[in-house]
Amino acid sequence: MDSNTALVTGASRGIGAAIADELARLGYFVFGTATSEAGAENISNQLQSQGRGLVLRVQDQTSVDNAFREMLDGAPAPLIVVNNAGVTRDNLMLRMSADEWQEVLDTNLNGAFRVTKAALRGMIKARWGRVINVGSVVARLGNPGQANYVASKAGLEGFTRSLALEVGSRGITVNLLAPGFIETDMTAALSSEQTAAMLTRIPLGRMGTAKEVAALAGFLSGDDAAYITGQTIHVNGGMFLN
Ligand SMILES: NC(=O)c1ccc[n+]([C@@H]2O[C@H](COP(=O)([O-])OP(=O)(O)OC[C@H]3O[C@@H](n4cnc5c(N)ncnc54)[C@H](OP(=O)(O)O)[C@@H]3O)[C@@H](O)[C@H]2O)c1
Repeated sequence: MDSNTALVTGASRGIGAAIADELARLGYFVFGTATSEAGAENISNQLQSQGRGLVLRVQDQTSVDNAFREMLDGAPAPLIVVNNAGVTRDNLMLRMSADEWQEVLDTNLNGAFRVTKAALRGMIKARWGRVINVGSVVARLGNPGQANYVASKAGLEGFTRSLALEVGSRGITVNLLAPGFIETDMTAALSSEQTAAMLTRIPLGRMGTAKEVAALAGFLSGDDAAYITGQTIHVNGGMFLN
C-alpha cells in the first residue's frame, strides 16, 4: 500500500522545503511545518492543493499534540514522516553552555522521538509506514565545535536502527538519510574559510543541493523502497564512504 499523506518537519527552508516539494511532485498530500505562523502560511502557498503548512516546534510536546490534532481533523493520518527539523548551536566543548547542549538535543533528537511517537499509531493501524530521519555525515566523522549536534545525529542513527527492528513486522520502514555538505541557510552561516576547508574533503568538489537530498527521500517514501529498513544512507559527494 502507498500512503497519500506525508508530514515533513522543518519544511519552510532548505532540505525540508525540497523534500516537501518532491513528495508533492510525487503526488502525496504533504503537511509541512515551520516554527512560525508566517512560515506555515508560506508553505501552504508553496504547496497549493498538494499540501498545507502547520506550526510545529518539535521541542514542545504541546505543539506536537496540537499539530497532530490539526492534521487528523479531516485528513488521513500521515503514514510518511520525515524528521528533518534541526538546529546547530556550535561551540567548543569548554565554552558550550548547558542550554546550547540541551536545545540541540531537544530539537534534533527528542523532537524526532515526539513526532515519530505521535505518528506511529496510525502507521501500525494501517500496517504501512515510512519514517525517514534526517541525520548528518558528521555523525560518522565527528566535528570539532559540534559535540551537541553530532551527539544528536548519532543518537538518531541508533534510534533508526532500534525502531526499524521494532516495527518491521508491521510493514513500517525506518531509515536515516545522512546529508553531507548541502547548500542551505545552515551552511551559509559558515565562514568562507570553513566552507573552503570543507570543500577540500569532498571528492565531487562541490556542495550538494537540497534537491539532491530530496530525491532520496522521495524514493524511500515509495513502495519501491519497501525492502530497505534500518539503514543510514549517505548523500555526501563522497565525503564519507560507508
Ligand atoms: N545543510 C547541510 O549541509 C546539512 C548537512 C547534514 C544534515 N543536515 C540536516 O538537515 C536538516 C535540514 O537542514 P537545513 O540545512 O535545511 O536547515 P535550515 O535551512 O536551517 O532549516 C531548518 C528547518 O528546521 C526548522 N526548525 C528549526 N528549529 C525547529 C524546531 N525547534 N521545531 C521545528 N522546526 C524547526 C526551521 O523552521 P523555521 O524556518 O521556522 O525556523 C527550518 O524549516 C537538519 O536536520 C540538519 O541537521 C543539513
